[in-house]
Amino acid sequence: MRAALEIRRGISESPVTAGEVVSSAQRLQVAAPVSAILVGEQTYRTTREVIDYSEAAPTAAKAGAGAILAWQALAALPRRGVDLVREPRTPLVGRKRELELLVSTLTRAIEERSPQFVTLVGVPGIGKSRLVFELSKRFDQEREQITWRQGRCLSYGDGVSFWALGEIVKAQAGILESDRPDQAEEKLRTAVAALPLTMDEATWVEREIWPLIGSSGERSPEERSEERFAAWRCFLEAMAERKPLVLALEDLHWADDGLLDFLEELADRLRDAPLLVLCAARPEFLERRPAWGGGKTNVLTIALAPLSEDETGQLLEAVLEQRELEAEVREALVARAAGNPLYAEQFARVLEEIGAVQQLPETVQGIIAARIDGLPLADKAVLQDAAVIGKVFWPGAVEAIGDIPNREVRGRLVSLERKEFVQQARRSSVAGEPEYSFRHILLRDVAYAQIPRAARGERHRRAAGWIQSPGRPDDHAEVLAHHYLKALDYTRATEQGDSALAEHARLALRAAGQRALALASYAAAARFYSSALELWPESDAARVSLLVEAGRARHAADGTGIDLLEQAFQQLAADRDLEAAAEVGVDIARRFWLSGDRDRAYEYIDRALALTDDRRDSRSRAYALVERAAYHMNASDNAQASRLAAEALPLTDAPGMDDVRIRALDVLGSSRTFTGNVAGIDDSKQAIALARERNSFSRLIVAELNLHCQLYFLGQLDAATDALTAARQDVERHGTADQRNWLRIAEAHQAILHGRWNAAAEMLEARIAEAEAGLVHYLDPTCHAFTRARETKDPQITAPALALCATVLLTQGRRKQASTLTSEVLACGHVQVAALLELHGAVTPIEFAWLVRDLGREAELLTALESAPPTPWLQAACAIAEHDSAGSLDLVAKIRAPSVDAYARLRAAEEAARSGSHDVAKELLAPALQFFRRVRAARHLAIADGLLAEGT
Ligand SMILES: Nc1ncnc2c1ncn2[C@@H]1O[C@H](COP(=O)(O)OP(=O)(O)OP(=O)(O)O)[C@@H](O)[C@H]1O
Ligand SMILES: [Mg+2]
Repeated sequence: MRAALEIRRGISESPVTAGEVVSSAQRLQVAAPVSAILVGEQTYRTTREVIDYSEAAPTAAKAGAGAILAWQALAALPRRGVDLVREPRTPLVGRKRELELLVSTLTRAIEERSPQFVTLVGVPGIGKSRLVFELSKRFDQEREQITWRQGRCLSYGDGVSFWALGEIVKAQAGILESDRPDQAEEKLRTAVAALPLTMDEATWVEREIWPLIGSSGERSPEERSEERFAAWRCFLEAMAERKPLVLALEDLHWADDGLLDFLEELADRLRDAPLLVLCAARPEFLERRPAWGGGKTNVLTIALAPLSEDETGQLLEAVLEQRELEAEVREALVARAAGNPLYAEQFARVLEEIGAVQQLPETVQGIIAARIDGLPLADKAVLQDAAVIGKVFWPGAVEAIGDIPNREVRGRLVSLERKEFVQQARRSSVAGEPEYSFRHILLRDVAYAQIPRAARGERHRRAAGWIQSPGRPDDHAEVLAHHYLKALDYTRATEQGDSALAEHARLALRAAGQRALALASYAAAARFYSSALELWPESDAARVSLLVEAGRARHAADGTGIDLLEQAFQQLAADRDLEAAAEVGVDIARRFWLSGDRDRAYEYIDRALALTDDRRDSRSRAYALVERAAYHMNASDNAQASRLAAEALPLTDAPGMDDVRIRALDVLGSSRTFTGNVAGIDDSKQAIALARERNSFSRLIVAELNLHCQLYFLGQLDAATDALTAARQDVERHGTADQRNWLRIAEAHQAILHGRWNAAAEMLEARIAEAEAGLVHYLDPTCHAFTRARETKDPQITAPALALCATVLLTQGRRKQASTLTSEVLACGHVQVAALLELHGAVTPIEFAWLVRDLGREAELLTALESAPPTPWLQAACAIAEHDSAGSLDLVAKIRAPSVDAYARLRAAEEAARSGSHDVAKELLAPALQFFRRVRAARHLAIADGLLAEGT
């Protein structure tokens, strides 16, 4: 569509003639990019609150008429967020410095594209939200250049998972609480499509954002919380890319842990974006997160102090609209308010409404209660019913709770607004309903506290009923569960046990658990599921799936919960629901394996396999096979691994199994390569291509890093470097913390192979610091780490540990012990030696071969490597064992790892020197010396110099 909705007259400001209007409209039409809507200034000014625009290049004018300013409509943007302060009645008092600080921080974020994080901290009513509002007002003029989004954390229980972020997304996409899932989905798609993202990214971002606003959706068997964070980060980054972005997060003290983790990660990982995250929190927040923002240069915490006496006085006078208060009254009120603007406001209002200072209650809650008590009874009832919903509410909900006709509710709200108890939002988040909020949460809290306890249960039940009716129940699951739990608590307290209510409650709790689990808020999910299980009848068939979900949530939250999964496994197996049992079995196995209990892991994976033995075309069968194959691979039993992965692969042709297929190809590729079959590389490349096509980033990154390992194993170091470079981009963008560590270690390892030791040290410094800060095994005098490595029973972990330990022992002259450890490696045959290459062991086969020679055990190495895959690494190791130094050097040269090459030359030169061939030694040493000098390898240089000196 090419369209010009409206036009502006030329800049010359000359009066518009009809002809000009038409021609301007035509010009806008011509200037409008395909599929874009251009509007003129007037439309822009009147609609910029609801539509997001970007400035378009002025349209060329016809002679004399001036250029036409135009804006391109990007998307409908109904709201900046929920619960915004509207124009306050009283002017801002004080807070000059704080406001200036905020202004300059935002300016800096924009001008330097450096993300800034500011947290306003202070007691209730001190003016945090007001400052947020004042900042937004300062930038009102520049509204078209800034996107301002606001979200608040809810005070229910331990917070509603990521609610504030969900509100931000909803505001950005114009999604209403009352929208059906399909409507919400469509709006989200449009909003994401409007962002500067590639098609792939957009699909991914959309998928990962959906649980924030919609249903739990389908889940893959593996949790991917970090991937979700990466996608959300990508979304915010893209928003900021389009226009500088301010995210205002209210009431952070009620945030769930997940949201706080996300924000911390955002502060850590976002480097280059015009973004300000502005949070408001009460002081208890810092008790919860004492290290909030500690040590980061882009994170600032501003503590709001009480207003001065003078400022408090000014505020009182402004509220009372009096030029000067009587000195005595002023003094008394100022003393009571103690610099808290909310208190000052409430004291002033009660004074206005009730009179005489002497009778005033002591606390602000008392004052507010007195004010509420001063209301007509019907107004008071409306206020209390509204308080059941929360800080933000809608007349329809009040109607449902209090059985008051809607018209009457609306009328009473008008009078409550006049008295400054509530305020109406400019736009509502529920279609067809105006939206209101309490002026301050304390007003809501006091109104709620006044409801007799016996009357609360029924009110919460009705609130739940109202919330449940429209929109997307999944998105509101946690809020709903809160109301049902309260309803249950209060009815139980009054001993009116009610089975229908219990049923509603347990269903709501399960849905809440699912929402939280889908958002990877494991602790919250575990809590919801536990409450649901308590209410769930033992005999109900759906209980077993609840056990599974509860177990998963608990295990992810705190490492417990495997017992629940085991219970479910037994139950499912007993019920002959073999498919489900097998999937749970695989899941249990993985959890045992991650906790280092290899034997139990194997026990369960084998049970899962046995269950699906005669179901050769099932999904669970494929899944169990692939996972079994992966265990074999991790145990360096690559022949078995590739056999099982190959068996699984054809089973993954069925639709909906791409995830398993990617994994199958990945495991097949790696295990084939490690058995010396170079076709493995192609399998891995297929896995990578499919993962990329499906936006399955976790799988993609694992496959990419595995491909890098394979190329390294094959001695193709240049190709390995390229693979790592390719992986880096995906890891940086979508990777989990583990994957980032893996990448860094792989990169450090590359650096070592190239002799860039300082760079490697720098890369590893962070890991070392981490280790020093508390890793249990670091510097453990009893060699605990080593014992642990052995306990894993996985060659790829034990082999490097043993080989390294032996090398160190030998340099210390402890030959016998070194020899014992070396025997252990050799005893497992080529598997163990080859395993030195599977992860980035500290010792390569070349170094190990020289160690073996130093110990005089060459024959054993040759026997061990008899059936080893013919990679340059292992062939070179054989050559060294056969005393064919020249041959080994040729093979090493193929690998193109300068540091290994230099080491091999040094050892060969040593040997030559020992046999008196000093010239040969000198010749061998020349390139090595050059390398050692360049990278300042002091120890090796000393040895080389010693050798050269012998020859002269
Ligand atoms: N500096 C100020 N000048 C004038 N009025 C103020 C000032 N600071 C706060 N107020 C008013 O005091 C009331 C309470 O302030 P606000 O809502 O910002 O508190 P808050 O710190 O956000 O509290 P909470 O922790 O409960 O969210 C509001 O009506 C606000 O307009
Ligand atoms: Mg506030």
